[in-house]
Amino acid sequence: MSVIILGIESSCDDTSAAVIKDGVLLSNVIASQAVHESYGGVVPELASRAHQQNIIPVVHEAIKRAGIDKSELSAIAFTRGPGLMGSLLVGTSFAKGLALSLDIPMVDVNHLKAHVLAHFIKENEADENQPNFPFLCLLVSGGNSQIIVVRSYDDMEVVGQTIDDAAGEAFDKCAKVMGLGYPGGPVVNRLANEGDPKAFKFSKPHIPGYNYSFSGLKTSFLYTLRDHLKEDADFIEKNKKDLCASLQATVIDILMDKLRKAAKDLQIKEVAVAGGVSANSGLRDAFQDHATRYGWKIHIPSFAFTTDNAAMVAITGYYKYLNKEFCAMDAAPFSRVTVAVTK
Ligand code: KG4
Repeated sequence: MSVIILGIESSCDDTSAAVIKDGVLLSNVIASQAVHESYGGVVPELASRAHQQNIIPVVHEAIKRAGIDKSELSAIAFTRGPGLMGSLLVGTSFAKGLALSLDIPMVDVNHLKAHVLAHFIKENEADENQPNFPFLCLLVSGGNSQIIVVRSYDDMEVVGQTIDDAAGEAFDKCAKVMGLGYPGGPVVNRLANEGDPKAFKFSKPHIPGYNYSFSGLKTSFLYTLRDHLKEDADFIEKNKKDLCASLQATVIDILMDKLRKAAKDLQIKEVAVAGGVSANSGLRDAFQDHATRYGWKIHIPSFAFTTDNAAMVAITGYYKYLNKEFCAMDAAPFSRVTVAVTK
């Protein structure tokens, strides 16, 4: 009998629902919340209110687009954390209500693991591009920069992570001081495509192992602006493209240096990238370049699966369902996890 999973994602500012049948994606609906743009960042209270408004139409649309009836669902997978508590509560409570009314099990999903397992979503029956275990995954988003050894669907080990800011934060904070709006990552990427990556030099961290640090880069970026603005008040406007290109190139160098070291030391040549920053075209090019130069087999997600989406929740739920890993009705969401990727 087929296994049909409804996935629900509501950890931050995207309300999403998706349906996966035997590992193949049938639908993935995302309602993004524009309300935060004018605040320069996500406002938690507004996010939970928007989730409340979006959740019913989004789930309804996902089921409709999948061409199934909700009575055919095998289980409901939902993001339990990490994320914003008010946002998580909306998805968790909705999943509980629907699971109870349909008398089907619930599967709780770790949001970070879901980003990694997004690589296993089959976009159609013939899609055979899934990674082989073990592989390395560079998880880069607004809140995380991690190198993860993925040994199976539920065996993941974080071997390196940021000790301060995440890569996405570095993009967003530097974009903010240039007045580029929020989230800054996509804007930096767009401007970087027209700039010179060697125009400015920013400091890179010197820390041992596979850990990352981006706070030094942020400070070095700020000091560069401060020094030049003393001489020329229009410095940012005149050099925006080169500043973005140089910033992007430095972030990518920092990310790839440690990833290359981990791949070499651990002798793993299959390497994936996941999370919001994996939408960055420079980072995607760097992966392609490493595939050619070092013989890596690379996995770059479709754009739809880079930012928060329920398809990745549904696929994670699918594999947990096959293992009969269900969760109880009293499962509470968690905003943080001590080990970023838990078993
Ligand atoms: O995974 P994600 O959607 O959620 C959070 O972690 O919140 O990642 C969002 C992050 C933001 O920092 C955003 O600026 C960054 O991903 N991002 C990008 C690009 N697209 C999104 N950073 C650089 N280049 C991009 N094209």
